[in-house]
Amino acid sequence: MTEANERLTSPDRREEDLSELSLRPRLLAEMIGQGRVKENLSILIQAAKARGEALDHVLFYSPPGLGKTTLAHILANEMEVKIKVTSGPAIERAGDLAAILTNLQSVDILFIDEIHRLGRVVEEILYPAMEDYALDITIGKGPSARSIRLKLPHFTVVGATTRLALLTAPLRSRFGAIHRLGFYETPAMEAIVTRGAIVLQVDINAGGTSEIACRARGTPRVALRLLRRVRDYAQVRADGCITRSVAKEALALLEIDDLGLDNADRSVLTTIIEKFHGGPVGLQTIAASISEEPDTVMDVVEPYLLQLGFIDRTPQGRVATPGAYQHLGLELPTAPQQRLPEI
Ligand SMILES: Nc1ncnc2c1ncn2[C@@H]1O[C@H](COP(=O)(O)OP(=O)(O)O)[C@@H](O)[C@H]1O
Ligand SMILES: [Mg+2]
Repeated sequence: MTEANERLTSPDRREEDLSELSLRPRLLAEMIGQGRVKENLSILIQAAKARGEALDHVLFYSPPGLGKTTLAHILANEMEVKIKVTSGPAIERAGDLAAILTNLQSVDILFIDEIHRLGRVVEEILYPAMEDYALDITIGKGPSARSIRLKLPHFTVVGATTRLALLTAPLRSRFGAIHRLGFYETPAMEAIVTRGAIVLQVDINAGGTSEIACRARGTPRVALRLLRRVRDYAQVRADGCITRSVAKEALALLEIDDLGLDNADRSVLTTIIEKFHGGPVGLQTIAASISEEPDTVMDVVEPYLLQLGFIDRTPQGRVATPGAYQHLGLELPTAPQQRLPEI
Protein backbone atom coordinates (compact mmCIF):
# COMPACT_ATOMS: atom_id res chain seq x y z
CA MET A 1 0.00 0.00 0.00
CA THR A 2 1.25 3.45 -0.82
CA GLU A 3 2.22 5.99 1.76
CA ALA A 4 -0.55 8.52 1.36
CA ASN A 5 -3.17 5.84 1.04
CA GLU A 6 -1.90 4.31 4.23
CA ARG A 7 -2.24 7.62 5.93
CA LEU A 8 -5.99 7.49 5.53
CA THR A 9 -6.63 3.82 5.52
CA SER A 10 -4.29 1.75 7.52
CA PRO A 11 -1.37 2.80 9.73
CA ASP A 12 -3.08 1.97 12.95
CA ARG A 13 -5.88 0.15 11.24
CA ARG A 14 -6.44 -2.45 13.91
CA GLU A 15 -6.49 0.09 16.65
CA GLU A 16 -8.80 2.14 14.47
CA ASP A 17 -11.11 -0.77 13.80
CA LEU A 18 -11.50 -1.39 17.50
CA SER A 19 -12.21 2.17 18.46
CA GLU A 20 -14.12 2.93 15.24
CA LEU A 21 -17.14 1.06 16.52
CA SER A 22 -17.53 3.26 19.54
CA LEU A 23 -16.37 6.38 17.70
CA ARG A 24 -18.94 6.15 14.95
CA PRO A 25 -22.01 8.24 15.63
CA ARG A 26 -25.00 5.87 15.63
CA LEU A 27 -27.83 8.28 14.93
CA LEU A 28 -28.27 11.35 12.76
CA ALA A 29 -28.50 13.57 15.82
CA GLU A 30 -25.06 12.39 16.99
CA MET A 31 -23.48 13.13 13.64
CA ILE A 32 -21.61 16.43 13.69
CA GLY A 33 -21.73 18.83 10.70
CA GLN A 34 -23.03 18.11 7.16
CA GLY A 35 -26.22 19.98 8.08
CA ARG A 36 -27.90 19.93 4.68
CA VAL A 37 -27.21 16.24 4.06
CA LYS A 38 -28.56 15.35 7.50
CA GLU A 39 -31.70 17.41 6.96
CA ASN A 40 -32.39 15.76 3.61
CA LEU A 41 -31.78 12.31 5.03
CA SER A 42 -34.00 13.00 7.99
CA ILE A 43 -36.88 13.85 5.62
CA LEU A 44 -36.18 10.74 3.56
CA ILE A 45 -36.22 8.57 6.69
CA GLN A 46 -39.35 10.08 8.21
CA ALA A 47 -41.28 9.82 4.93
CA ALA A 48 -40.26 6.21 4.31
CA LYS A 49 -41.10 5.27 7.90
CA ALA A 50 -44.48 6.94 7.75
CA ARG A 51 -45.33 5.03 4.58
CA GLY A 52 -43.89 1.82 6.00
CA GLU A 53 -41.69 1.45 2.95
CA ALA A 54 -38.00 0.81 2.28
CA LEU A 55 -35.78 3.88 1.84
CA ASP A 56 -35.09 5.03 -1.68
CA HIS A 57 -31.58 4.14 -2.92
CA VAL A 58 -28.98 6.62 -1.62
CA LEU A 59 -25.52 7.44 -2.93
CA PHE A 60 -22.82 9.26 -0.96
CA TYR A 61 -19.70 10.66 -2.55
CA SER A 62 -16.73 12.43 -0.99
CA PRO A 63 -12.99 12.10 -0.46
CA PRO A 64 -12.08 9.39 2.09
CA GLY A 65 -12.74 9.80 5.81
CA LEU A 66 -15.66 12.25 5.70
CA GLY A 67 -18.42 9.95 6.92
CA LYS A 68 -19.91 7.90 4.06
CA THR A 69 -19.69 4.55 5.86
CA THR A 70 -20.88 6.19 9.06
CA LEU A 71 -23.95 7.56 7.32
CA ALA A 72 -24.79 4.20 5.77
CA HIS A 73 -24.87 2.65 9.24
CA ILE A 74 -26.82 5.61 10.61
CA LEU A 75 -29.48 5.04 7.93
CA ALA A 76 -29.81 1.42 9.04
CA ASN A 77 -30.02 2.41 12.71
CA GLU A 78 -32.58 5.13 12.08
CA MET A 79 -34.71 2.82 9.93
CA GLU A 80 -34.15 -0.01 12.43
CA VAL A 81 -33.27 -2.41 9.63
CA LYS A 82 -30.40 -4.79 8.98
CA ILE A 83 -27.43 -3.71 6.93
CA LYS A 84 -25.36 -5.98 4.72
CA VAL A 85 -21.93 -4.50 3.97
CA THR A 86 -19.98 -5.23 0.82
CA SER A 87 -17.86 -3.37 -1.72
CA GLY A 88 -17.44 -3.02 -5.47
CA PRO A 89 -14.20 -5.01 -5.72
CA ALA A 90 -15.56 -7.75 -3.41
CA ILE A 91 -18.40 -8.63 -5.77
CA GLU A 92 -16.44 -10.33 -8.52
CA ARG A 93 -19.05 -12.34 -10.36
CA ALA A 94 -22.69 -11.91 -11.16
CA GLY A 95 -23.38 -14.97 -9.01
CA ASP A 96 -21.86 -13.26 -5.95
CA LEU A 97 -24.32 -10.41 -6.26
CA ALA A 98 -27.23 -12.78 -6.95
CA ALA A 99 -26.38 -14.64 -3.73
CA ILE A 100 -26.33 -11.42 -1.73
CA LEU A 101 -29.56 -10.14 -3.24
CA THR A 102 -31.53 -13.33 -2.69
CA ASN A 103 -30.48 -13.34 0.97
CA LEU A 104 -31.81 -9.86 1.66
CA GLN A 105 -35.09 -9.27 3.40
CA SER A 106 -37.61 -6.59 2.74
CA VAL A 107 -36.43 -3.06 3.77
CA ASP A 108 -32.87 -4.29 4.47
CA ILE A 109 -30.00 -2.04 3.43
CA LEU A 110 -27.26 -3.26 1.12
CA PHE A 111 -24.22 -1.00 1.56
CA ILE A 112 -21.86 -1.11 -1.42
CA ASP A 113 -18.63 0.74 -0.67
CA GLU A 114 -16.42 1.83 -3.58
CA ILE A 115 -19.37 1.25 -5.84
CA HIS A 116 -17.48 2.74 -8.80
CA ARG A 117 -15.38 -0.42 -8.83
CA LEU A 118 -18.25 -2.80 -9.62
CA GLY A 119 -17.68 -4.83 -12.77
CA ARG A 120 -19.87 -4.24 -15.82
CA VAL A 121 -21.59 -7.62 -15.69
CA VAL A 122 -22.37 -7.25 -12.01
CA GLU A 123 -23.65 -3.76 -12.61
CA GLU A 124 -26.10 -5.00 -15.18
CA ILE A 125 -27.63 -7.37 -12.64
CA LEU A 126 -27.93 -4.48 -10.23
CA TYR A 127 -30.00 -2.25 -12.56
CA PRO A 128 -33.21 -4.34 -12.61
CA ALA A 129 -32.63 -5.29 -8.98
CA MET A 130 -32.65 -1.64 -7.94
CA GLU A 131 -35.38 -0.53 -10.28
CA ASP A 132 -37.87 -3.40 -10.41
CA TYR A 133 -36.68 -5.57 -7.51
CA ALA A 134 -36.12 -8.33 -10.01
CA LEU A 135 -33.25 -10.70 -10.66
CA ASP A 136 -32.86 -12.06 -14.17
CA ILE A 137 -31.14 -15.41 -14.28
CA THR A 138 -30.21 -17.40 -17.36
CA ILE A 139 -30.58 -21.15 -17.05
CA GLY A 140 -28.79 -23.50 -19.40
CA LYS A 141 -26.62 -22.74 -22.39
CA GLY A 142 -26.98 -22.39 -26.14
CA PRO A 143 -30.35 -22.58 -27.90
CA SER A 144 -32.15 -24.17 -24.95
CA ALA A 145 -31.07 -21.41 -22.57
CA ARG A 146 -33.90 -19.48 -21.05
CA SER A 147 -34.14 -16.54 -18.76
CA ILE A 148 -36.22 -16.51 -15.63
CA ARG A 149 -37.05 -13.54 -13.49
CA LEU A 150 -36.98 -13.86 -9.70
CA LYS A 151 -38.77 -11.37 -7.51
CA LEU A 152 -36.61 -9.72 -4.88
CA PRO A 153 -37.69 -8.10 -1.62
CA HIS A 154 -37.89 -4.30 -1.54
CA PHE A 155 -34.43 -3.43 -0.31
CA THR A 156 -32.31 -0.28 -0.32
CA VAL A 157 -28.90 0.17 -1.89
CA VAL A 158 -26.67 2.66 -0.13
CA GLY A 159 -23.64 3.31 -2.31
CA ALA A 160 -20.43 5.13 -1.43
CA THR A 161 -17.73 6.38 -3.75
CA THR A 162 -14.77 8.71 -3.85
CA ARG A 163 -15.23 9.13 -7.60
CA LEU A 164 -18.68 10.06 -8.76
CA ALA A 165 -17.37 10.59 -12.30
CA LEU A 166 -16.47 6.92 -12.63
CA LEU A 167 -20.04 5.78 -12.04
CA THR A 168 -21.87 4.93 -15.24
CA ALA A 169 -24.86 7.11 -16.03
CA PRO A 170 -27.39 4.23 -15.78
CA LEU A 171 -26.12 3.26 -12.34
CA ARG A 172 -26.17 6.83 -11.14
CA SER A 173 -29.72 7.27 -12.36
CA ARG A 174 -30.94 4.37 -10.20
CA PHE A 175 -30.27 6.39 -7.04
CA GLY A 176 -33.15 8.47 -5.73
CA ALA A 177 -30.88 10.62 -3.57
CA ILE A 178 -27.27 11.58 -4.25
CA HIS A 179 -25.35 13.46 -1.57
CA ARG A 180 -21.90 14.95 -1.59
CA LEU A 181 -20.10 15.27 1.75
CA GLY A 182 -17.81 18.28 1.97
CA PHE A 183 -14.80 18.95 4.18
CA TYR A 184 -15.81 19.99 7.72
CA GLU A 185 -15.53 23.55 9.02
CA THR A 186 -13.34 24.24 12.06
CA PRO A 187 -16.16 24.36 14.68
CA ALA A 188 -17.43 20.95 13.51
CA MET A 189 -13.89 19.59 13.56
CA GLU A 190 -13.48 20.84 17.13
CA ALA A 191 -16.68 19.12 18.13
CA ILE A 192 -15.46 15.89 16.50
CA VAL A 193 -12.15 16.05 18.38
CA THR A 194 -13.98 16.76 21.63
CA ARG A 195 -16.34 13.83 21.09
CA GLY A 196 -13.41 11.58 20.13
CA ALA A 197 -11.52 12.59 23.27
CA ILE A 198 -14.50 11.68 25.44
CA VAL A 199 -14.95 8.28 23.79
CA LEU A 200 -11.21 7.52 23.91
CA GLN A 201 -10.94 9.01 27.42
CA VAL A 202 -8.19 11.42 26.44
CA ASP A 203 -7.28 14.37 28.63
CA ILE A 204 -7.33 17.45 26.39
CA ASN A 205 -8.01 21.16 26.87
CA ALA A 206 -9.54 23.73 24.52
CA GLY A 207 -6.17 24.79 23.08
CA GLY A 208 -5.20 21.21 22.26
CA THR A 209 -8.61 20.56 20.71
CA SER A 210 -8.39 23.59 18.47
CA GLU A 211 -4.82 22.81 17.39
CA ILE A 212 -5.71 19.27 16.29
CA ALA A 213 -9.00 20.38 14.70
CA CYS A 214 -7.25 23.02 12.56
CA ARG A 215 -4.66 20.61 11.28
CA ALA A 216 -6.88 17.69 10.32
CA ARG A 217 -7.65 18.74 6.73
CA GLY A 218 -11.35 19.09 7.46
CA THR A 219 -11.51 15.29 7.72
CA PRO A 220 -12.88 13.46 10.79
CA ARG A 221 -10.81 10.31 10.19
CA VAL A 222 -7.62 12.40 10.14
CA ALA A 223 -8.70 14.29 13.28
CA LEU A 224 -9.27 11.06 15.19
CA ARG A 225 -5.96 9.64 14.03
CA LEU A 226 -4.05 12.76 15.01
CA LEU A 227 -5.82 12.73 18.37
CA ARG A 228 -4.51 9.21 19.02
CA ARG A 229 -0.98 10.09 17.98
CA VAL A 230 -0.92 13.28 20.03
CA ARG A 231 -2.31 11.36 22.99
CA ASP A 232 0.66 8.97 22.73
CA TYR A 233 3.04 11.89 22.62
CA ALA A 234 1.39 13.57 25.62
CA GLN A 235 1.65 10.31 27.55
CA VAL A 236 5.33 9.75 26.79
CA ARG A 237 6.75 13.25 26.61
CA ALA A 238 4.37 15.33 28.74
CA ASP A 239 2.06 14.75 31.70
CA GLY A 240 -0.68 13.12 29.65
CA CYS A 241 -2.77 16.23 29.05
CA ILE A 242 -3.02 17.54 25.49
CA THR A 243 -2.53 21.29 25.59
CA ARG A 244 -1.92 23.53 22.60
CA SER A 245 1.84 23.42 23.04
CA VAL A 246 1.91 19.63 23.47
CA ALA A 247 -0.22 19.27 20.31
CA LYS A 248 2.10 21.62 18.41
CA GLU A 249 5.19 19.64 19.43
CA ALA A 250 3.61 16.30 18.58
CA LEU A 251 2.35 17.49 15.20
CA ALA A 252 5.73 19.01 14.36
CA LEU A 253 7.31 15.63 15.06
CA LEU A 254 4.74 14.02 12.75
CA GLU A 255 5.75 16.61 10.12
CA ILE A 256 2.26 17.98 9.83
CA ASP A 257 2.30 21.67 9.09
CA ASP A 258 0.03 24.53 10.13
CA LEU A 259 -2.55 23.74 7.48
CA GLY A 260 -2.47 20.01 8.14
CA LEU A 261 -0.39 19.15 5.09
CA ASP A 262 1.97 16.22 5.50
CA ASN A 263 4.92 14.99 3.48
CA ALA A 264 2.80 13.47 0.72
CA ASP A 265 0.87 16.70 0.21
CA ARG A 266 4.00 18.81 0.23
CA SER A 267 5.82 16.52 -2.15
CA VAL A 268 3.00 16.83 -4.68
CA LEU A 269 3.28 20.61 -4.46
CA THR A 270 7.07 20.73 -4.61
CA THR A 271 7.10 18.30 -7.53
CA ILE A 272 4.77 20.51 -9.55
CA ILE A 273 6.73 23.62 -8.61
CA GLU A 274 10.33 22.47 -8.68
CA LYS A 275 10.37 19.70 -11.25
CA PHE A 276 7.74 21.06 -13.60
CA HIS A 277 8.06 24.81 -13.11
CA GLY A 278 4.63 25.15 -11.56
CA GLY A 279 2.82 23.05 -14.19
CA PRO A 280 0.71 22.26 -16.03
CA VAL A 281 1.72 18.66 -15.48
CA GLY A 282 -0.34 15.49 -15.81
CA LEU A 283 -1.52 13.40 -12.86
CA GLN A 284 0.38 10.31 -14.04
CA THR A 285 3.63 12.25 -14.23
CA ILE A 286 3.21 13.72 -10.76
CA ALA A 287 2.37 10.30 -9.32
CA ALA A 288 5.35 8.67 -11.03
CA SER A 289 7.78 11.31 -9.79
CA ILE A 290 6.79 10.77 -6.17
CA SER A 291 6.38 6.96 -6.53
CA GLU A 292 2.71 7.12 -5.68
CA GLU A 293 -0.41 5.62 -7.26
CA PRO A 294 -2.27 8.12 -9.46
CA ASP A 295 -5.51 7.07 -7.75
CA THR A 296 -4.08 7.92 -4.34
CA VAL A 297 -2.88 11.32 -5.50
CA MET A 298 -6.27 12.03 -7.03
CA ASP A 299 -8.49 10.68 -4.22
CA VAL A 300 -6.46 11.40 -1.12
CA VAL A 301 -4.01 14.21 -1.76
CA GLU A 302 -5.60 16.46 -4.35
CA PRO A 303 -9.06 17.15 -2.92
CA TYR A 304 -7.71 19.09 0.03
CA LEU A 305 -5.09 20.92 -2.03
CA LEU A 306 -7.88 21.96 -4.39
CA GLN A 307 -9.99 23.06 -1.45
CA LEU A 308 -7.12 25.19 -0.14
CA GLY A 309 -6.73 26.65 -3.63
CA PHE A 310 -3.12 25.44 -3.85
CA ILE A 311 -3.58 23.65 -7.15
CA ASP A 312 -5.80 24.03 -10.17
CA ARG A 313 -6.92 21.28 -12.50
CA THR A 314 -6.70 22.45 -16.08
CA PRO A 315 -7.23 20.43 -19.28
CA GLN A 316 -3.43 20.43 -19.71
CA GLY A 317 -2.77 19.16 -16.20
CA ARG A 318 -2.24 20.36 -12.63
CA VAL A 319 -0.95 23.85 -11.93
CA ALA A 320 0.43 25.19 -8.63
CA THR A 321 -1.14 28.49 -7.59
CA PRO A 322 0.64 31.46 -5.95
CA GLY A 323 -0.86 30.31 -2.64
CA ALA A 324 1.13 27.09 -2.87
CA TYR A 325 4.41 28.95 -3.45
CA GLN A 326 3.64 31.20 -0.51
CA HIS A 327 2.80 28.33 1.81
CA LEU A 328 6.02 26.51 0.97
CA GLY A 329 8.03 29.75 1.27
CA LEU A 330 9.09 29.58 -2.37
CA GLU A 331 9.52 32.50 -4.66
CA LEU A 332 7.00 32.97 -7.44
CA PRO A 333 8.62 32.61 -10.85
CA THR A 334 8.65 35.71 -12.99
CA ALA A 335 6.24 35.60 -15.93
CA PRO A 336 7.48 33.18 -18.57
CA GLN A 337 9.12 34.77 -21.59
CA GLN A 338 6.50 35.02 -24.30
CA ARG A 339 7.86 33.72 -27.56
CA LEU A 340 6.94 35.95 -30.40
CA PRO A 341 4.92 34.16 -33.04
CA GLU A 342 6.96 33.36 -36.09
CA ILE A 343 5.88 35.15 -39.17
N1 LIG B 1 -19.82 13.80 11.24
C1 LIG B 1 -19.07 13.02 12.01
N2 LIG B 1 -19.09 13.14 13.34
C2 LIG B 1 -18.29 12.37 14.11
N3 LIG B 1 -17.44 11.45 13.64
C3 LIG B 1 -17.38 11.27 12.34
C4 LIG B 1 -18.18 12.04 11.45
N4 LIG B 1 -17.92 11.65 10.19
C5 LIG B 1 -16.99 10.69 10.28
N5 LIG B 1 -16.67 10.45 11.56
C6 LIG B 1 -15.67 9.49 12.01
O1 LIG B 1 -14.58 9.53 11.09
C7 LIG B 1 -14.16 8.22 10.74
C8 LIG B 1 -14.25 8.03 9.25
O2 LIG B 1 -15.58 8.04 8.82
P1 LIG B 1 -16.12 7.06 7.68
O3 LIG B 1 -17.60 7.07 7.74
O4 LIG B 1 -15.47 5.73 7.81
O5 LIG B 1 -15.62 7.79 6.35
P2 LIG B 1 -15.71 7.34 4.82
O6 LIG B 1 -16.55 6.11 4.74
O7 LIG B 1 -16.29 8.52 4.11
O8 LIG B 1 -14.28 7.09 4.39
C9 LIG B 1 -15.02 7.27 11.55
O9 LIG B 1 -14.30 6.87 12.71
C10 LIG B 1 -16.21 8.07 11.95
O10 LIG B 1 -16.67 7.68 13.20
MG1 LIG C 1 -15.87 4.20 4.17
